[in-house]
Formats: sequence, structure tokens, C-alpha cells
Amino acid sequence: MRDKYKYIGPVYDFLSNLYSGRSIHRCKTAMLDLETITPGARILFAGVGHGRDALRAAELGAEVTVVDLSETMLRKFAQAQETEAPHLNIRRIHSDIMNVDEFGQYDMVIANFFLNVFDEDMMVRVLAHLIQLGKPDAQVVVGDFSYPSGNPIARLFKKGYWYLAVFIFWLLANNAFHKIYNYPDHMQRLGLKITRQKHFKLLNMNCYWSILGQKQA
Ligand SMILES: C[S@@+](CC[C@H](N)C(=O)[O-])C[C@H]1O[C@@H](n2cnc3c(N)ncnc32)[C@H](O)[C@@H]1O
Repeated sequence: MRDKYKYIGPVYDFLSNLYSGRSIHRCKTAMLDLETITPGARILFAGVGHGRDALRAAELGAEVTVVDLSETMLRKFAQAQETEAPHLNIRRIHSDIMNVDEFGQYDMVIANFFLNVFDEDMMVRVLAHLIQLGKPDAQVVVGDFSYPSGNPIARLFKKGYWYLAVFIFWLLANNAFHKIYNYPDHMQRLGLKITRQKHFKLLNMNCYWSILGQKQA
């Protein structure tokens, strides 16, 4: 299996902080608080990357499973855990998320900056799969670039900002090249009720959002 993140994976978090200030990090941890996470809650992180968000969830007492297709990314995750939280017990799965078949087992499924690697048809299939992995009343979190809104200049800036990132990841990791997705629309179409949304700014513009969806039992 070719590791698409072999070259960009080691510097992924560094680039993310360079590109966004700390906005992406804040977006990824936005829904991880004592209000949403109860001790012992089973949480799955899809496409975990370096996974500081997963460490935060485990520190709050969740039982965390992380999945990633890239060996490089999982190694970076293991290193981060080793240095920052060696006492935590986190289950790691090296796999394509579509081969994870633990249906109906998770209280929360988290897709931070993960769904944007796919073209739109595949993204919808992956999101539907993530929803299936949740228990009947599970919460599903999507953190990502927010759908361009605001005045024409703000929309233009947000699109340019997105296309810079998508171009780099298309070139270096062979990710899909596409427009910004309207995640709340897709989540609702797949039966989730949107219960919370938080926005994160760059240059005083909302560039990222974290969306909390609830499965309807
Ligand atoms: C853009 S990175 C985001 C990483 C992390 N969630 C973050 O926010 O920093 C996408 C991640 O998804 C992983 N990935 C891509 N396709 C995958 C798949 N089909 N199954 C599991 N992981 C996948 C990549 O290896 C990479 O770590």
C-alpha cells in the first residue's frame, strides 16, 4: 500500500500551524469538552494524522480509537503520544476507514480535516460510513474549511485560501481537487441533526468550522 503522506506527513502539523495560526488546532478540538465527552465514551478519530485532538479526548477520559491509512501519520501520532501523553491507552488501527466495520459501536465519530481528501461522491460515502460506525444516538463531528460566505471579497479570499491548500495536497498527497464542501447540508441529508456549530477566524474572517451532528435514534 503506497503511503500518500510519506513526504508531507512528517511536517503536516507544522504546515497546518504555519497556514492557519492556531485556528485549525482550535477548530479540531472545539467539540472536545466536558459537555460533549463523558468519561468512558467511545470515540473514533477517522484519518487522525498527528492527532493532538485524539490525545485531548483521551485526556478527558474517553476511550479513544484512531484510524489512519498512512503509516507515516500513525508513526507521528505514536511519537506525539509517547512524548505528550505516554500514560494514555489509545487504540491505533492502520487501515482504510472503509474497511473498519465496527458498526454501531461509537458514541462519537470525529472527522477533522479528513473528508476534504475525497472527491464529493466518495466523501458522501465515507461520511455515511462514519455515521454507521456510531451508536444509534451517536454524535458526529466534522471540522474543516467553512463554506465561503460573507461579502464578495471575503468569499474570494476564502476560495483562494482553500485552493492554495487543496493544490498543495493534490500535488504532494494525490488528494482530490475540488471546491469547498457544504458539510452541514451533507450531514443533514444523511439524517444527522446539527446541534452545534463553531467558527474559527483567520484575518477576522470565518475560515474554519466545527459542526456537531446528532444521529436520530
Ligand atoms: C488532511 S489529513 C488530516 C489529519 C488530521 N485529522 C488533522 O486534522 O490534522 C487526512 C488524513 O486522513 C488520512 N486518510 C486519507 N484517506 C484515508 C482513508 N481512506 N482511511 C483512513 N485514513 C485516511 C491521511 O493519511 C491523513 O492522515
